[in-house]
Amino acid sequence: MTAALPCLALALLCALRAAAEVPVQPGFDTQKFAGKWHFTATASNCSVYLKMKDRMKTPIATISITPEGNLAMKLAWPLPDGCQRLELLFQRSGQAGCYTAAQEKRELCVMETDYSHYAIVHETQHTEQQPSTALQLLTREPDVSPQLLQKFEELIPAMGLTKAMLAVLPKSDHCAAATR
Ligand SMILES: *[C@@H]1O[C@H](CO)[C@@H](O)[C@H](O)[C@H]1NC(C)=O
Repeated sequence: MTAALPCLALALLCALRAAAEVPVQPGFDTQKFAGKWHFTATASNCSVYLKMKDRMKTPIATISITPEGNLAMKLAWPLPDGCQRLELLFQRSGQAGCYTAAQEKRELCVMETDYSHYAIVHETQHTEQQPSTALQLLTREPDVSPQLLQKFEELIPAMGLTKAMLAVLPKSDHCAAATR
């Protein structure tokens, strides 16, 4: 019994680690990741997002890499009454492809990308009472192929989310002028 205990604890710890671990794009190339991305699809269990997901339109991000290797994101978010602009700074973390923001309350990891067409980004947020998880499909072009969308959908359950939390966001012209 006493001998089995450390094994049990170890197995438990391993299980916890496995649950928290997100695969990251091997050999992540920061410079190639920079540029313009459309947030074409999102799946998240964040309560604020779930309330407004059916009315959301595709935000457009312009990503640049600072000399320190941090990720600066200019976000243009189409809202019913115009275009909301946000600037976010994500600090580089120990793991290439992962960044943190707001005193590490938000973490973003690039799970997979081919740099020229798509990227799948995993985000965790600890700002609410309960942490929330988001999976986001970023595309260079505003349109997404059915194959890519299917690939994205297959990842949703693996991240502890459900398809009911998915929103494929429509395009909007609200922010077009300024991001051209
Ligand atoms: C969202 O999902 C993650 C992963 O399954 C879980 O740890 C978290 O508690 C969930 N948060 C909410 C608000 O449901």
